[in-house]
Amino acid sequence: MSSVDLGRAVGHVDADVPVGWNQRDLLLYAVGIGAKADEHALVNELDKSWTPFPTYPVVLMLKHDGQDVNVFTERIGGSTPTPGLPKLDPNRTVHATQSIQVLKPLPAVSGAGWKLQRRVVAVSENKSGIVLESEYKLVDPQGTPYAILYSASFNLGAKATGKPFSKRIAGAPPAKPIPKDRNPDWVVSDQTTPEQAAIYRLSGDYNGLHIDPSIGKAAGFGGVILHGLSSYGFAARAVVKAVGGGDPSSLKYFGVRFSSPVKPGDALETRMWAVGTTTQGLTEVAFEVKNVTTGKVSLSNGVAWVKKSEKGKL
Ligand SMILES: *[C@@H]1O[C@H](CO)[C@@H](O)[C@H](O)[C@H]1NC(C)=O
Ligand SMILES: *[C@@H]1O[C@H](CO)[C@@H](O)[C@H](O)[C@H]1NC(C)=O
Ligand SMILES: *[C@@H]1O[C@H](CO)[C@@H](O)[C@H](O)[C@H]1NC(C)=O
Repeated sequence: MSSVDLGRAVGHVDADVPVGWNQRDLLLYAVGIGAKADEHALVNELDKSWTPFPTYPVVLMLKHDGQDVNVFTERIGGSTPTPGLPKLDPNRTVHATQSIQVLKPLPAVSGAGWKLQRRVVAVSENKSGIVLESEYKLVDPQGTPYAILYSASFNLGAKATGKPFSKRIAGAPPAKPIPKDRNPDWVVSDQTTPEQAAIYRLSGDYNGLHIDPSIGKAAGFGGVILHGLSSYGFAARAVVKAVGGGDPSSLKYFGVRFSSPVKPGDALETRMWAVGTTTQGLTEVAFEVKNVTTGKVSLSNGVAWVKKSEKGKL
């Protein structure tokens, strides 16, 4: 292993990863993020409202182009070793932030030749561990970009020098704070099921933390926790429903910070505030997701850009 120097990790470009999906993958993802039987735009490819859900590309970071189960520990860490990092423990790695900017609507079937291009854009170290942030670009066989993702992982307890360090060359736009002086403009309540993580993992994240209670217990979570990206999708569905009139193609950007775990079966509430308009005329939404019963925030720093429907008007 090369010597530890966090600065060398920033800017590292991975080998391109082949990715692919079919219509069944999109339908499976929809139920993994909690879509109900009457959400025809997500679960019913026979309905004219059906369209690929725009946050789908986030699963490709681990799914790649496979159709069967993969080995989680072989998928995290990228396709080529990142120079400058200390040894990181996959059992103590949690998702910190995630965003996706939608550039073009996804086809229902990718076919061969699509790629995910990854580079490391930020690394920081503090007393609690090391945060690593990557940029992923989804490109079609001609190299046309369809989506740009930023994803940060927090390696709890990891240590390079033990001194505070931070370097960033790119990243997601910052979140706007939630207005403190007014109630949310939209609130959507939803229910995860006890099987939620068992279903979501079929989209490509086979981390044992989400199926084997003993791993969750060892990690201090008291059992299985839901994939952060499943609750991310729950919140995206809520934003599409409330602001975008139920049309998945209304969603153009979606970013969050993962603040605390969700357990399969928890009831979630997504609280949304209109906070501005983007230069393209999209409604800028700030949001958070809470555990309905405990009131604890599980997703914070939420940002969405939505083409607001008449139904979504305030
Ligand atoms: C992570 O947890 C799994 C399941 O408990 C265990 O088999 C594996 O050895 C652990 N990995 C490390 C690096 O500790
Ligand atoms: C270290 O950074 C993480 C991620 O930004 C943050 O959650 C944590 O509170 C920080 N810890 C300290 C001790 O500053
Ligand atoms: C959410 O609230 C329920 C009901 O109080 C509780 O059982 C569950 O553990 C909470 N979830 C988390 C992740 O704390």
